[in-house]
Amino acid sequence: MGSSRGTYYSALKRIARVANSPLSLRRTCNSIAKSTARAMQANGCRILSLDSQKEYLITVGTYGLSDLYLKKGPLDARKSLPDILEGKVVFIADATKNERVQYPQIALTQGISSILGVPVLGKGEAIGEIRIYTREPRQFSEADKSFLLSVADICAVIFERAELHHLLEQDYKTNEKRRKLSQASPLPTTLKPVSFAHPSEEDFAKLLDFYCIEWLYEPRSFPLKWEGGKIAEMFTPDFYLPELDLYVELTTLKQNLLTEKNRKLRQLRQLYPEVNIKLLNKNDFLKLLAKYGYGPLGEAKVEGIDRVLYTHAQIQRRVRTLARRISRDYAGQRLVLIGILKGVVCFMSDLMQHLSIPVTLDFMAISYYGGDGQVVKITRDLDSSITGQHVLMVEDIVDTGMTLNYILSHLSAHNPASLRVCTLLDKRARRLINVPLDYVGFEVPDEFVVGYGLDYKGEYRNLPFIGILHPELIKGHNL
Ligand code: IMP
Repeated sequence: MGSSRGTYYSALKRIARVANSPLSLRRTCNSIAKSTARAMQANGCRILSLDSQKEYLITVGTYGLSDLYLKKGPLDARKSLPDILEGKVVFIADATKNERVQYPQIALTQGISSILGVPVLGKGEAIGEIRIYTREPRQFSEADKSFLLSVADICAVIFERAELHHLLEQDYKTNEKRRKLSQASPLPTTLKPVSFAHPSEEDFAKLLDFYCIEWLYEPRSFPLKWEGGKIAEMFTPDFYLPELDLYVELTTLKQNLLTEKNRKLRQLRQLYPEVNIKLLNKNDFLKLLAKYGYGPLGEAKVEGIDRVLYTHAQIQRRVRTLARRISRDYAGQRLVLIGILKGVVCFMSDLMQHLSIPVTLDFMAISYYGGDGQVVKITRDLDSSITGQHVLMVEDIVDTGMTLNYILSHLSAHNPASLRVCTLLDKRARRLINVPLDYVGFEVPDEFVVGYGLDYKGEYRNLPFIGILHPELIKGHNL
């Protein structure tokens, strides 16, 4: 079986026209999935986009696949046909018997035999995938693959346009907030096209967004009861939080509904013991967040924070990556880590614990004086000599670069064997002096950030995340 060049040519013409239409991302992708599946005489097609953390594949368009198949759970980018994201074309002859398929038993019940998957590449990197499904076992020709790769190229342009739209939208929202016009109706969101069944779910999603916690709304339905080989009862938890590998069902105060939910949850836990699910109300959830290290117990405690920029988990991941690179670069050597008190304490403490080379620590303290507060004075110098030593200056944030520039020339005067800089945050937009940064955690926007050691007037250092301070708080201050 296979389609003719003419069929593929007409389908590509149709797909290009839809791609250039003003339809939403989801409708565009659904239409492309349909045209693609039909042109390839396949039973189903799915267009997937890689999430911002490159951990999960999110369905943005489908055709011909059942709800059960679509809600079988979030696709883990590392478990579900990972070769595709490495840029390869992947062909699975029998999806029910292949260990690269994440949910083979569902493929079996859904009667899916063969899968062809190709990457959607943006600037040479995988940003998503297209998968084609057939019920009959099928071989795909070179023409089939080449057609699907052309569709993937069109999808790449659509994804990048949607991403641009999303960025513009974020920019727009930030500016709106600055102008105190937060009541203005938001632009339609294309990347998370979710309609919530209940307002409390939307509130919950906002809370998750505040904490920068990735979420998927109702991504999976769990069959609970079967009658005559058919599913008679299912349970669909409200949210899945991939970072915590946790399903969340929101509670209601109505006792009869709660009893019913509890019954279903008990059943679910019996049938799927590996699934981590919690029935929560808002307060339970705040407590849970505190336990997972996302923040203090109540929202009131993070008063003054406009939004979370990096969660505890994101910071930890980046710190581990930096530590791995540093350990590799200094393999076989000893290193002196130098920090400036007090902002660097959290970063220094986490970073050094992940270094696999021998290190010693030293700290300096400084104060600022002069008309614009930008003349640096060292109030506490190093305890030990650094002459002939490999030195890594560890910084919390580099802003104008004035402080670091001063400290680096002070340290160079002691003739270390080498002198490099590792900063968690780089506020490049405000740089006045071009200081060399060898290891950078995150490039941050031109906003005042606090938490994870960084303060505003001595406060907020204890927040386990990095957040943006409300612009109102610092209005008129020359920061
Ligand atoms: P620079 O000399 O302008 O690079 O400033 C560096 C110092 O300013 C940092 O070590 C921080 O103490 C402080 N700083 C700059 N930006 C921020 C911020 O956004 N939050 C908290 N402290 C900041």
